[in-house]
Amino acid sequence: MPPPDAKPRHIAITMDGNGRWAAARGLTRVAGHKAGLATVRMCIEQCSQRGIEALTLFAFSSENWRRPAEEVSGLMTLFVEALDKEIDELHAKAVHVRFIGERRTLAVRLQARIAAAEERTRANPGLRLQVALSYGGRWDIVQAAQKLAQQCSSGALAAGEIDEERFADALSLAGLPEADLLIRTGGEQRISNFLLWEAAYAELYFTPVLWPEFALADFEAALAFYAGRERRFGASASAPARRVGA
Ligand code: IPE
Ligand code: IPE
Ligand code: MG
Repeated sequence: MPPPDAKPRHIAITMDGNGRWAAARGLTRVAGHKAGLATVRMCIEQCSQRGIEALTLFAFSSENWRRPAEEVSGLMTLFVEALDKEIDELHAKAVHVRFIGERRTLAVRLQARIAAAEERTRANPGLRLQVALSYGGRWDIVQAAQKLAQQCSSGALAAGEIDEERFADALSLAGLPEADLLIRTGGEQRISNFLLWEAAYAELYFTPVLWPEFALADFEAALAFYAGRERRFGASASAPARRVGA
């Protein structure tokens, strides 16, 4: 067993590769997204069981609106169906569910499900699950800047009082530990506008495995990778700020 502090507090996942998984089987892209739900369930279950504090899943980016209307509407329907289907189980597992992203751009029926799911699970003490929908790291930074600017113009805040802590408090993930481990499936090695602020010191784990095929052993491999990292946070190698598996 790795030592207890070898475990990330906050895992973020870019769930990529559904489209390629489907194409390889002659299925529609939406069928690929549907197949990815089983992996979502597995990761939530694993994080809950292992006492990981927070899991943030990238489900739909600000830029994914550029996809064909058919895929976008298929995804919106899938999000609604998945929430309807999973919310009882999530609540039973004491998961605290939240959604981050530009909510007003989402289908109204999805916004209603989101509000209900958040309200229902608000007091749950278990895993803190964030689902990023119509989310972009740049969008989040801009909305934080707007919030702070409003406080400045109302006189509640002076510009000079804005520091990293106050800025982080205006972001969607305020109050959560920063991402320790960022997993991306599907083989691409890029951020694609995910947690631009909160992943500043995340360990990056890229795997070619496509999201619908990302299995327990792959999740464990990502955790083992993390446990082997030496996290320096800018300190020198001889005096690392924190050796994960030490
Ligand atoms: C990720 O899978 C899911 C979303 C972006 C909604 P993709 O749909 O990007 O799958 P690939 O990258 O085309 O295989
Ligand atoms: C990132 O995947 C977004 C999500 C997984 C939700 P994309 O498939 O949209 O990213 P790019 O286009 O390959 O950068
Ligand atoms: Mg993709």
